[in-house]
Amino acid sequence: MTLILGLESSCDDTAAALVGSDRRILAQAVVGQNDAHRPFGGVVPEIAARAHVQILPELVARVLAEAGTGVGELDAIAATAGPGLIGGVMVALLTGKGLALATSKPLIAINHLEGHALSPRLADPDLDFPYLLLLVSGGHCQLLEVLGVGSYRRLATTIDDAAGEAFDKAAKLLGLGYPGGPAIEALAREGDASAVALPRPLLGSAEPHFSFAGLKSAVQRAVASGSHRPADVAASFQQAVIDVLVDRTRVALAASSAPSLVVAGGVAANQAIRAALEQLAQRSGRRFSVPPISLCTDNAAMIAWAGVERYALGMFDSLEVPARARWPLDDSAEKVRGAGVKG
Ligand code: KG4
Ligand code: ZN
Repeated sequence: MTLILGLESSCDDTAAALVGSDRRILAQAVVGQNDAHRPFGGVVPEIAARAHVQILPELVARVLAEAGTGVGELDAIAATAGPGLIGGVMVALLTGKGLALATSKPLIAINHLEGHALSPRLADPDLDFPYLLLLVSGGHCQLLEVLGVGSYRRLATTIDDAAGEAFDKAAKLLGLGYPGGPAIEALAREGDASAVALPRPLLGSAEPHFSFAGLKSAVQRAVASGSHRPADVAASFQQAVIDVLVDRTRVALAASSAPSLVVAGGVAANQAIRAALEQLAQRSGRRFSVPPISLCTDNAAMIAWAGVERYALGMFDSLEVPARARWPLDDSAEKVRGAGVKG
């Protein structure tokens, strides 16, 4: 059994976890910063970085104590090295480097997106490569073929906002605060999804790319009109996102022979989205897998698990490995017209 310590601090969650190669999460801790960022309606990088510096060492000590493990018993240290807010990324990576140096254990630098991409395999031992992954988080919205550890083929990305970003912006327009996803999901339960006519950007287009900016503008107009109940706007918005995600994933499935459909990332915590994609998988004759909600939103167990997968393949990193603000999973994917830095 290998035992890996995972460290995560790339956005607004500080996290540490101990995961074994037998898929046991021996201990994990996540501290969010929602209260600190709420007044600004989004993540403020400097506030996030300062909080990570303050919290991470304490979390490392906490998970080691909880599992009754000494640093000497670790097989390796896995730390997120990007992509994300650079001040934050540096905290986990430099902490990981320090621990690796002090203990003479290998360092494994993890791409945060690979953490999300492999997270379903932590919970689902029967999920084999390759699989089609819908990766939906606050910063990314992509369809990828996961061919193996470190081997990804991007089929689609967003040309403007990510799905989670759309939830956060819609929530802000509705005065629901940050983060928007869970707040919209709760309010949508009391609303009528057919009450407000909203666009479904790129629906039916041949390539499975995403776009959410037009949907956000439509929500803005619906809210400004004052003629709709907030719950109806929330339900109609969520349904529009679901329709887009299902349609785009359907197009990608048609282009992929992968036997399984997998959804991961923070937005995969949404029950209505999980259910709609599960139905799509059934209709398409694919196996469906989605991690438990605690593994969808940012956490360190997924980073430690990516470390377990890399450790088994001897994929280690030197202490010179840099922190990266931008780090696509598929370096060869072409830029999509209109896609800023979201690739
Ligand atoms: O993966 P994640 O925790 O962080 C990033 O790597 O971005 O994803 C955060 C995003 C936020 O935009 C948040 O609003 C969204 O995931 N999210 C949700 C839900 N829970 C979190 N979106 C829709 N429904 C949810 N229940
Ligand atoms: Zn994430």
